[in-house]
Amino acid sequence: MKLSDNKATLSFSNGRPAIELPVYSGNIGPEVIDIRKLYGQTGMFTYDPGFLSTASCQSAITFIDGDKGELLYRGYPIEQLATQCNYMETCHLLLYGNLPGAAAQTAFVKNVKYHTMVNEQMQFFLRGFRRDAHPMAIMTGLVGALSAFYHDSTDINNAEHREVAAIRLIAKMPTLVAMAYKYSVGQPFMYPKNELSYAGNFLHMMFATPCEPYVVNPVIERAIDRIFTLHADHEQNASTSTVRLCGSSGTNPFAAIAAGVACLWGPAHGGANEACLQMLEEIQASGGISKVGEFMNQVKDKNSNVKLMGFGHRVYKNYDPRATLMQETCNEVLEALGLQDDPLFKLAKAVEKIALEDDYFVSRKLYPNVDFYSGIVQRAIGIPVKLFTGIFALARTAGWIAQLNEMISDPEYKIGRPRQLFTGSPRRDVLPIANR
Ligand code: CMC
Repeated sequence: MKLSDNKATLSFSNGRPAIELPVYSGNIGPEVIDIRKLYGQTGMFTYDPGFLSTASCQSAITFIDGDKGELLYRGYPIEQLATQCNYMETCHLLLYGNLPGAAAQTAFVKNVKYHTMVNEQMQFFLRGFRRDAHPMAIMTGLVGALSAFYHDSTDINNAEHREVAAIRLIAKMPTLVAMAYKYSVGQPFMYPKNELSYAGNFLHMMFATPCEPYVVNPVIERAIDRIFTLHADHEQNASTSTVRLCGSSGTNPFAAIAAGVACLWGPAHGGANEACLQMLEEIQASGGISKVGEFMNQVKDKNSNVKLMGFGHRVYKNYDPRATLMQETCNEVLEALGLQDDPLFKLAKAVEKIALEDDYFVSRKLYPNVDFYSGIVQRAIGIPVKLFTGIFALARTAGWIAQLNEMISDPEYKIGRPRQLFTGSPRRDVLPIANR
């Protein structure tokens, strides 16, 4: 971060002298006003619920230009990564800052594969859950529980521990998600098969059984890999900020990532893919395309509390580039599976078209986000709706851990501790119970 020639002056109407605040520039994107000394100099805090204008850290990992609809991981456009690289290369990029050459890629993949199994005890822990537990409830527990099994990689201040924890998390997430699925359907857990690709192995653990050979469909494998790449990171979103805040106390990486999983679950964030598919299914059940207008009226009615799930984004005020790629993947998968006439896909396209022509959405710059089409692809592949957010968590783990490790290596990092504007009662005395 460079000191800008630009300076900010904060003046007050009550006669307090004005203060000058330094301004820093990044390499691209808006400049930031450094308010770290504001409280010391003025006794005042800033107020910004939801971080609408607050940069909580400096980061060199992911950049989003929300107006242009551009997403870069370490400078590379998501369109190029999704079409020219695989998820393992993307993980390497996020973690180490560069796309690996052939030798580095082989070594990285080998390292990840070495860690794909989970401690056998994990399955006994998993068996404590109800069979109908939501997979994200299970994932929150399982990821946090990793810290009870891998004591040699829990010291966040030790660079070697951080490195091993990163690889372990990326390697074990598919195993845990697949175990959560197998448990819910009462099938035996399938051990990882390291001869397969990362995505292929995930499909194997999900859909193979010990009874018959399972052959990975290359179109599905590529689609899953692309879903992973598209979800791998997204700068300081709610779950990533949660991971950073949680990790800033010095807790172990597994605990910090478990906090990210918990945050991701919400329907305004990663849970939107599940909520979006449920929404489409409900419109379909109520009459399909002919009922879209009625549904849109509910969405636009401020008293209804109904949102068009998979639409809108805090940062994108243009088409989410991941949604475009996801729609392409959707086409490919449906065609490969002979499901071109999938009614939900048709419905989703109709909803999108109506929304993009409606002044409510146009004036608020609401466009489809990554979750609008991802559910349709996953459903076509045979992934149950409840598992969608688990797959998002699996993929986002690379971003979470890269961001966590970046924060710990940043000499400027401090425990996160926001301030508040207090609106409660001033000091008062406790009365004896009979007088309250
Ligand atoms: N449907 C209907 N109205 C919407 C929607 C929507 N999906 N999204 C935003 N709006 C309206 C909102 O009511 C507000 O209207 P008004 O100005 O009249 O009060 C205006 O658009 C601005 O929205 P906001 O709530 O101030 O925007 P935000 O930045 O706080 O929220 C969001 C962003 C993603 C939480 C929100 O757009 C939303 O809830 N979308 C649906 C859930 C969703 O798809 N989430 C996935 C996000 S992408 C993947 C991820 O990050 O996990």
